[in-house]
Amino acid sequence: MKYFRQNIEKAKGYEPGFQPSQTDMVKLNTNENPYPPSPQVLKALAEIGPEQLRRYPDPKAGTFRQAAAEVNGVQSDYIMCCNGGDELLTITFRAFCDENRPVAYPVPTYSLYPVLANLQDCRVIEVPFDGEFNLPAKLANTDAALTIVCNPNAPSGTFVSVGELASLADELSGMLLIDEAYVDFAEENCAALVKNFDNVIILRSMSKGYCLAGMRFGYAIARPDLIAGLMKVKDSYNVDAVAVAAAAAAIKDRKYFKENVEKVKKDRRILTAQLRALKFEVVDSFANFVLAESKSCKAGWIYDKLVQRNIYVRYFDLPGLNNKLRITVGTSEQNDKLILALKEILSE
Ligand SMILES: Cc1ncc(COP(=O)(O)O)c(C=O)c1O
Repeated sequence: MKYFRQNIEKAKGYEPGFQPSQTDMVKLNTNENPYPPSPQVLKALAEIGPEQLRRYPDPKAGTFRQAAAEVNGVQSDYIMCCNGGDELLTITFRAFCDENRPVAYPVPTYSLYPVLANLQDCRVIEVPFDGEFNLPAKLANTDAALTIVCNPNAPSGTFVSVGELASLADELSGMLLIDEAYVDFAEENCAALVKNFDNVIILRSMSKGYCLAGMRFGYAIARPDLIAGLMKVKDSYNVDAVAVAAAAAAIKDRKYFKENVEKVKKDRRILTAQLRALKFEVVDSFANFVLAESKSCKAGWIYDKLVQRNIYVRYFDLPGLNNKLRITVGTSEQNDKLILALKEILSE
Protein backbone atom coordinates (compact mmCIF):
# COMPACT_ATOMS: atom_id res chain seq x y z
CA MET A 1 0.00 0.00 0.00
CA LYS A 2 1.41 3.40 -0.98
CA TYR A 3 0.43 5.87 1.68
CA PHE A 4 0.72 9.03 -0.39
CA ARG A 5 -1.48 10.02 -3.32
CA GLN A 6 0.25 9.13 -6.58
CA ASN A 7 1.07 12.73 -7.56
CA ILE A 8 2.63 13.41 -4.15
CA GLU A 9 4.66 10.22 -4.40
CA LYS A 10 6.04 11.34 -7.77
CA ALA A 11 6.47 15.06 -6.98
CA LYS A 12 9.88 16.57 -6.36
CA GLY A 13 8.41 19.41 -4.29
CA TYR A 14 9.34 23.07 -4.46
CA GLU A 15 13.02 23.80 -4.04
CA PRO A 16 13.43 27.05 -2.07
CA GLY A 17 16.58 29.14 -2.52
CA PHE A 18 19.46 28.35 -0.14
CA GLN A 19 18.82 29.77 3.37
CA PRO A 20 22.12 29.55 5.25
CA SER A 21 22.34 29.92 9.01
CA GLN A 22 25.46 32.11 8.88
CA THR A 23 25.04 35.86 8.36
CA ASP A 24 28.52 36.87 7.12
CA MET A 25 27.76 36.12 3.47
CA VAL A 26 26.56 38.35 0.65
CA LYS A 27 23.06 36.95 0.26
CA LEU A 28 21.51 37.99 -3.05
CA ASN A 29 19.66 34.76 -3.80
CA THR A 30 16.06 34.97 -2.52
CA ASN A 31 14.93 38.54 -3.17
CA GLU A 32 14.69 39.68 0.41
CA ASN A 33 14.86 43.40 1.08
CA PRO A 34 18.42 44.15 2.27
CA TYR A 35 17.21 46.65 4.90
CA PRO A 36 15.50 46.08 8.26
CA PRO A 37 11.75 46.67 8.61
CA SER A 38 10.36 49.99 9.83
CA PRO A 39 11.16 50.88 13.48
CA GLN A 40 7.36 50.94 13.93
CA VAL A 41 7.37 47.17 13.36
CA LEU A 42 9.88 46.59 16.13
CA LYS A 43 7.84 48.86 18.40
CA ALA A 44 4.64 46.92 17.65
CA LEU A 45 6.43 43.65 18.36
CA ALA A 46 7.74 44.98 21.69
CA GLU A 47 4.19 45.90 22.65
CA ILE A 48 2.83 42.35 22.15
CA GLY A 49 1.43 41.22 25.50
CA PRO A 50 0.70 37.74 26.88
CA GLU A 51 -3.01 38.20 26.24
CA GLN A 52 -2.44 38.48 22.48
CA LEU A 53 -0.55 35.18 22.61
CA ARG A 54 -3.03 33.38 24.85
CA ARG A 55 -6.07 34.18 22.69
CA TYR A 56 -6.73 33.09 19.13
CA PRO A 57 -6.11 35.94 16.68
CA ASP A 58 -8.77 37.88 14.78
CA PRO A 59 -9.64 35.42 11.94
CA LYS A 60 -9.90 38.27 9.42
CA ALA A 61 -6.98 40.31 10.78
CA GLY A 62 -9.15 43.46 10.84
CA THR A 63 -6.40 45.94 11.75
CA PHE A 64 -4.25 44.96 8.81
CA ARG A 65 -7.24 44.67 6.49
CA GLN A 66 -8.29 48.23 7.23
CA ALA A 67 -4.76 49.60 6.75
CA ALA A 68 -4.24 47.70 3.47
CA ALA A 69 -7.64 48.84 2.21
CA GLU A 70 -6.71 52.49 2.76
CA VAL A 71 -3.37 52.08 1.00
CA ASN A 72 -5.04 50.45 -2.01
CA GLY A 73 -8.11 52.70 -2.24
CA VAL A 74 -10.69 49.95 -1.58
CA GLN A 75 -13.05 48.95 1.25
CA SER A 76 -11.71 46.46 3.80
CA ASP A 77 -13.95 43.65 2.51
CA TYR A 78 -11.78 43.68 -0.63
CA ILE A 79 -8.81 42.37 1.41
CA MET A 80 -7.93 38.89 2.70
CA CYS A 81 -4.75 38.34 4.74
CA CYS A 82 -2.51 35.31 4.24
CA ASN A 83 0.52 33.62 5.72
CA GLY A 84 2.75 34.99 2.96
CA GLY A 85 1.77 35.47 -0.67
CA ASP A 86 2.57 31.79 -1.16
CA GLU A 87 -0.41 30.85 0.99
CA LEU A 88 -2.68 32.87 -1.29
CA LEU A 89 -1.34 30.85 -4.22
CA THR A 90 -2.18 27.60 -2.40
CA ILE A 91 -5.66 28.89 -1.52
CA THR A 92 -6.25 30.01 -5.12
CA PHE A 93 -5.24 26.64 -6.59
CA ARG A 94 -7.46 24.83 -4.09
CA ALA A 95 -10.37 27.15 -4.85
CA PHE A 96 -10.27 27.09 -8.66
CA CYS A 97 -8.28 24.10 -9.96
CA ASP A 98 -8.74 20.35 -10.11
CA GLU A 99 -8.48 17.46 -12.63
CA ASN A 100 -10.93 19.18 -14.96
CA ARG A 101 -9.96 22.78 -14.32
CA PRO A 102 -6.51 23.62 -15.71
CA VAL A 103 -4.22 26.51 -14.91
CA ALA A 104 -2.40 28.63 -17.53
CA TYR A 105 0.53 31.00 -17.19
CA PRO A 106 3.32 32.46 -19.31
CA VAL A 107 6.78 30.91 -18.83
CA PRO A 108 9.43 31.23 -17.53
CA THR A 109 7.88 32.40 -14.28
CA TYR A 110 7.63 31.60 -10.56
CA SER A 111 8.54 27.93 -10.17
CA LEU A 112 6.02 27.35 -7.36
CA TYR A 113 3.04 27.45 -9.76
CA PRO A 114 3.61 23.99 -11.33
CA VAL A 115 4.27 22.49 -7.89
CA LEU A 116 0.90 23.70 -6.61
CA ALA A 117 -0.83 22.60 -9.83
CA ASN A 118 0.53 19.11 -9.33
CA LEU A 119 -0.83 18.97 -5.77
CA GLN A 120 -4.28 19.73 -7.20
CA ASP A 121 -3.89 17.13 -9.98
CA CYS A 122 -4.53 19.97 -12.39
CA ARG A 123 -3.24 20.28 -15.94
CA VAL A 124 -0.78 23.08 -16.64
CA ILE A 125 -0.92 25.11 -19.85
CA GLU A 126 2.40 26.90 -20.22
CA VAL A 127 2.49 29.68 -22.82
CA PRO A 128 6.03 30.86 -23.59
CA PHE A 129 6.94 34.53 -23.34
CA ASP A 130 8.79 35.93 -26.35
CA GLY A 131 12.43 37.03 -25.98
CA GLU A 132 11.31 40.37 -24.56
CA PHE A 133 8.83 38.93 -22.06
CA ASN A 134 5.79 40.47 -23.76
CA LEU A 135 2.44 39.04 -22.67
CA PRO A 136 1.70 36.17 -25.08
CA ALA A 137 -1.55 36.74 -27.02
CA LYS A 138 -2.37 33.03 -26.78
CA LEU A 139 -2.81 33.30 -23.03
CA ALA A 140 -6.28 34.73 -23.62
CA ASN A 141 -7.45 31.61 -25.48
CA THR A 142 -6.58 28.70 -23.21
CA ASP A 143 -9.98 28.22 -21.50
CA ALA A 144 -8.12 27.66 -18.22
CA ALA A 145 -10.08 27.95 -14.98
CA LEU A 146 -7.21 29.98 -13.57
CA THR A 147 -4.69 32.15 -15.42
CA ILE A 148 -1.73 33.56 -13.51
CA VAL A 149 0.41 36.49 -14.58
CA CYS A 150 3.32 37.35 -12.33
CA ASN A 151 3.84 41.11 -12.68
CA PRO A 152 6.62 42.18 -12.36
CA ASN A 153 7.53 38.71 -13.56
CA ALA A 154 9.98 36.52 -11.68
CA PRO A 155 12.70 35.80 -12.62
CA SER A 156 12.82 38.37 -15.47
CA GLY A 157 11.73 41.47 -13.50
CA THR A 158 9.80 42.64 -16.58
CA PHE A 159 6.47 44.46 -16.38
CA VAL A 160 3.27 44.10 -18.39
CA SER A 161 1.15 47.28 -18.50
CA VAL A 162 -2.05 47.61 -16.49
CA GLY A 163 -3.95 48.20 -19.75
CA GLU A 164 -2.79 44.87 -21.20
CA LEU A 165 -3.83 43.01 -18.07
CA ALA A 166 -7.22 44.74 -18.12
CA SER A 167 -7.70 43.51 -21.71
CA LEU A 168 -6.66 40.00 -20.66
CA ALA A 169 -9.13 40.01 -17.75
CA ASP A 170 -11.82 41.09 -20.19
CA GLU A 171 -11.06 38.30 -22.66
CA LEU A 172 -10.72 35.46 -20.15
CA SER A 173 -13.67 33.33 -19.17
CA GLY A 174 -11.88 32.10 -16.00
CA MET A 175 -10.13 33.71 -13.06
CA LEU A 176 -7.05 35.93 -13.46
CA LEU A 177 -4.58 36.02 -10.57
CA ILE A 178 -2.07 38.85 -10.91
CA ASP A 179 0.90 37.99 -8.70
CA GLU A 180 2.19 41.39 -7.59
CA ALA A 181 4.71 40.11 -5.03
CA TYR A 182 7.29 42.56 -6.46
CA VAL A 183 5.02 45.42 -7.49
CA ASP A 184 6.28 47.75 -4.75
CA PHE A 185 9.37 48.30 -6.93
CA ALA A 186 7.37 49.06 -10.10
CA GLU A 187 5.81 52.35 -11.23
CA GLU A 188 2.16 51.23 -11.30
CA ASN A 189 -0.02 48.35 -10.11
CA CYS A 190 -3.28 46.62 -10.93
CA ALA A 191 -5.22 47.24 -7.69
CA ALA A 192 -7.81 49.42 -9.44
CA LEU A 193 -8.76 46.54 -11.78
CA VAL A 194 -10.64 44.76 -9.00
CA LYS A 195 -13.31 47.46 -9.16
CA ASN A 196 -14.09 46.75 -12.83
CA PHE A 197 -13.53 42.99 -13.06
CA ASP A 198 -15.22 40.20 -11.12
CA ASN A 199 -12.50 37.73 -12.21
CA VAL A 200 -9.36 39.47 -10.94
CA ILE A 201 -7.45 38.62 -7.76
CA ILE A 202 -4.32 40.57 -6.88
CA LEU A 203 -1.59 38.97 -4.76
CA ARG A 204 0.59 41.14 -2.54
CA SER A 205 3.51 40.21 -0.31
CA MET A 206 4.95 41.96 2.74
CA SER A 207 8.24 40.09 2.22
CA LYS A 208 9.82 42.39 -0.35
CA GLY A 209 8.83 46.07 -0.16
CA TYR A 210 8.18 45.88 3.61
CA CYS A 211 11.24 43.83 4.65
CA LEU A 212 9.19 41.14 6.40
CA ALA A 213 10.11 37.88 4.62
CA GLY A 214 10.77 36.19 7.97
CA MET A 215 7.34 37.15 9.26
CA ARG A 216 5.30 35.49 6.51
CA PHE A 217 2.53 37.91 5.55
CA GLY A 218 0.72 38.67 2.33
CA TYR A 219 -2.76 39.59 1.18
CA ALA A 220 -5.30 39.38 -1.60
CA ILE A 221 -7.22 42.25 -3.17
CA ALA A 222 -10.43 41.27 -4.96
CA ARG A 223 -14.15 41.95 -5.03
CA PRO A 224 -15.92 41.03 -1.78
CA ASP A 225 -17.72 38.02 -3.31
CA LEU A 226 -14.37 36.57 -4.40
CA ILE A 227 -12.81 37.34 -1.02
CA ALA A 228 -15.73 35.58 0.67
CA GLY A 229 -15.13 32.51 -1.52
CA LEU A 230 -11.40 32.46 -0.80
CA MET A 231 -12.11 32.80 2.92
CA LYS A 232 -13.96 29.47 2.78
CA VAL A 233 -10.73 27.80 1.69
CA LYS A 234 -8.23 29.38 4.09
CA ASP A 235 -7.50 28.07 7.58
CA SER A 236 -9.65 29.98 10.05
CA TYR A 237 -6.62 31.44 11.88
CA ASN A 238 -4.19 31.60 8.99
CA VAL A 239 -2.30 34.68 10.21
CA ASP A 240 -1.05 34.91 13.78
CA ALA A 241 -1.50 37.84 16.15
CA VAL A 242 2.20 38.76 16.17
CA ALA A 243 2.40 38.85 12.38
CA VAL A 244 -0.78 40.94 12.11
CA ALA A 245 0.62 43.55 14.53
CA ALA A 246 3.96 43.70 12.67
CA ALA A 247 2.44 43.79 9.18
CA ALA A 248 -0.09 46.49 10.14
CA ALA A 249 2.69 48.66 11.59
CA ALA A 250 4.76 48.15 8.43
CA ILE A 251 2.05 49.05 5.94
CA LYS A 252 1.03 52.12 7.95
CA ASP A 253 4.55 53.59 7.91
CA ARG A 254 4.29 55.07 4.40
CA LYS A 255 7.35 57.31 4.77
CA TYR A 256 9.69 54.45 5.66
CA PHE A 257 8.22 52.28 2.88
CA LYS A 258 8.67 54.95 0.20
CA GLU A 259 12.23 55.78 1.23
CA ASN A 260 13.18 52.11 1.31
CA VAL A 261 11.74 51.42 -2.13
CA GLU A 262 13.53 54.46 -3.59
CA LYS A 263 16.86 53.23 -2.20
CA VAL A 264 16.38 49.79 -3.76
CA LYS A 265 15.34 51.31 -7.10
CA LYS A 266 18.39 53.58 -7.14
CA ASP A 267 20.70 50.65 -6.41
CA ARG A 268 18.91 48.59 -9.06
CA ARG A 269 19.75 51.26 -11.65
CA ILE A 270 23.41 51.30 -10.57
CA LEU A 271 23.69 47.49 -10.44
CA THR A 272 22.10 47.13 -13.88
CA ALA A 273 24.56 49.65 -15.39
CA GLN A 274 27.55 47.96 -13.70
CA LEU A 275 26.50 44.51 -14.94
CA ARG A 276 26.03 45.87 -18.47
CA ALA A 277 29.49 47.41 -18.29
CA LEU A 278 30.76 43.87 -17.57
CA LYS A 279 29.03 42.75 -20.80
CA PHE A 280 26.11 41.01 -19.10
CA GLU A 281 22.79 41.32 -20.90
CA VAL A 282 20.28 42.64 -18.37
CA VAL A 283 16.63 43.31 -19.14
CA ASP A 284 15.19 46.40 -17.44
CA SER A 285 13.81 45.24 -14.09
CA PHE A 286 10.78 46.57 -12.22
CA ALA A 287 11.45 44.31 -9.21
CA ASN A 288 14.13 44.08 -6.50
CA PHE A 289 16.27 41.75 -8.57
CA VAL A 290 17.82 41.64 -12.04
CA LEU A 291 18.24 38.79 -14.49
CA ALA A 292 21.72 38.84 -16.02
CA GLU A 293 23.02 36.79 -18.91
CA SER A 294 26.70 36.37 -19.60
CA LYS A 295 27.59 35.71 -23.23
CA SER A 296 31.21 34.87 -22.44
CA CYS A 297 30.98 32.35 -19.53
CA LYS A 298 28.52 29.71 -18.37
CA ALA A 299 26.16 31.01 -15.66
CA GLY A 300 26.59 27.83 -13.57
CA TRP A 301 30.36 28.35 -13.57
CA ILE A 302 30.05 31.97 -12.47
CA TYR A 303 27.59 30.88 -9.78
CA ASP A 304 30.11 28.36 -8.36
CA LYS A 305 32.89 30.92 -8.41
CA LEU A 306 30.70 33.39 -6.51
CA VAL A 307 29.85 30.74 -3.90
CA GLN A 308 33.59 30.21 -3.35
CA ARG A 309 33.71 33.91 -2.45
CA ASN A 310 30.73 33.56 -0.08
CA ILE A 311 28.42 35.44 -2.47
CA TYR A 312 25.09 33.80 -3.24
CA VAL A 313 22.87 34.62 -6.22
CA ARG A 314 20.21 32.35 -7.81
CA TYR A 315 20.92 29.98 -10.64
CA PHE A 316 18.08 27.98 -12.21
CA ASP A 317 19.22 24.96 -14.18
CA LEU A 318 16.10 25.16 -16.34
CA PRO A 319 15.51 25.61 -20.07
CA GLY A 320 15.65 29.29 -21.02
CA LEU A 321 17.27 30.23 -17.70
CA ASN A 322 20.40 28.10 -17.47
CA ASN A 323 22.56 30.78 -19.05
CA LYS A 324 21.32 33.46 -16.63
CA LEU A 325 21.76 34.52 -13.01
CA ARG A 326 19.05 36.16 -10.95
CA ILE A 327 20.60 38.67 -8.61
CA THR A 328 18.74 40.35 -5.75
CA VAL A 329 19.46 44.06 -5.37
CA GLY A 330 21.36 44.29 -2.08
CA THR A 331 22.78 47.22 -0.16
CA SER A 332 25.28 49.37 -2.12
CA GLU A 333 28.09 47.59 -0.24
CA GLN A 334 26.80 44.12 -1.11
CA ASN A 335 26.33 45.08 -4.75
CA ASP A 336 29.87 46.51 -4.87
CA LYS A 337 31.27 43.24 -3.47
CA LEU A 338 29.38 41.31 -6.12
CA ILE A 339 30.64 43.52 -8.95
CA LEU A 340 34.22 43.31 -7.69
CA ALA A 341 33.99 39.51 -7.51
CA LEU A 342 32.48 39.32 -11.01
CA LYS A 343 35.32 41.46 -12.41
CA GLU A 344 37.84 39.02 -10.90
CA ILE A 345 35.95 35.93 -12.07
CA LEU A 346 35.49 37.17 -15.63
CA SER A 347 39.17 38.02 -15.96
CA GLU A 348 40.30 34.54 -14.84
C1 LIG B 1 6.58 35.63 -7.78
C2 LIG B 1 6.36 35.41 -6.33
N1 LIG B 1 5.11 35.35 -5.88
C3 LIG B 1 4.85 35.16 -4.58
C4 LIG B 1 5.86 35.02 -3.67
C5 LIG B 1 5.49 34.77 -2.25
O1 LIG B 1 6.05 35.62 -1.35
P1 LIG B 1 5.80 35.49 0.19
O2 LIG B 1 5.16 34.15 0.44
O3 LIG B 1 7.13 35.62 0.82
O4 LIG B 1 4.86 36.61 0.53
C6 LIG B 1 7.19 35.06 -4.09
C7 LIG B 1 8.31 34.88 -3.16
O5 LIG B 1 9.46 34.95 -3.45
C8 LIG B 1 7.45 35.26 -5.47
O6 LIG B 1 8.70 35.30 -5.94
